[in-house]
Amino acid sequence: MTGVPSDFQPLTAEAVRARLVTKTLGRTLHVLEETPSTNTTALTLAQQGAEDGTVIVADRQTAGRGRLGRHWHSPPGVNLYCSVILRRRPTPERRMSWLSWVPLLSAVAVARAVQAEAGVLPTLKWPNDLMVGQRKLGGLLCESGGLGELDRVVVVGLGLNVNAGPDAFPGELREVATSLACETGRLFDRAALLASVLAELEHRYDAFPLQEAGEWMHEYATLCSTLGRSVRAEVAGGETLEGWAEGIGSDGSLRIRLTRPTALGSAQAGLVVEVRAADIMHVR
Ligand code: BTN
Repeated sequence: MTGVPSDFQPLTAEAVRARLVTKTLGRTLHVLEETPSTNTTALTLAQQGAEDGTVIVADRQTAGRGRLGRHWHSPPGVNLYCSVILRRRPTPERRMSWLSWVPLLSAVAVARAVQAEAGVLPTLKWPNDLMVGQRKLGGLLCESGGLGELDRVVVVGLGLNVNAGPDAFPGELREVATSLACETGRLFDRAALLASVLAELEHRYDAFPLQEAGEWMHEYATLCSTLGRSVRAEVAGGETLEGWAEGIGSDGSLRIRLTRPTALGSAQAGLVVEVRAADIMHVR
């Protein structure tokens, strides 16, 4: 891949609006040249009452955030950095599963949009890393805030490496990250990709209240490359679990059948533990 020409399809509000096919998502749209983090901007706007479906997209981030407190590399002019504000009120029976499944459903939606636009179907490393082979193409950071249980806002933040060439990644990412351009040798219109992502997200968010749990579980499991593998999981508190990823729990957790007792002795080999937040390594 050579460098991206500096005037290659700049990400503008007009370009995104011209491609939008959604009813709600992106109808209020903020396209920024630069922001510390689109998620932080989205959380601030949500506090100020921004409506459901508001989208914030930036050409570059100066303090992009990843899961587990990590930094998200966000160079200008090449990738997608966007956040969607969700302010939906599922029925009381669906509220908990909505909050647990938004990150996983969103990852499925992005993978399907990438497939439609670029002809590459990423797999999902639990919970929501978008992978091509062993390399990371993108990720989601979902954060919630709001004024209380009944006005719970979820911000879905997506970072997707689109037109970044191999030189755009710093040394520590070169072996582990990829972009659509690196995978296909082509450049992509970020506005078209964003419009497609928003269409896939909206389709799944709208369908969620009408579906049975089995339907969204099946969609996720079809793309999840963690299932059926030997994994190492670093969970909060620094404990490491080793075992076999055998399923997804009803709350979106990863069910691991331990092949070794935990180092701190809290669980024995053979036991199934449900992990809700962890850094997962595929062992083989
Ligand atoms: C991950 O660790 O895999 C999640 C990365 C999420 C990055 C995106 S970029 C847009 C949004 N704003 C942020 O600061 N983070 C998310």
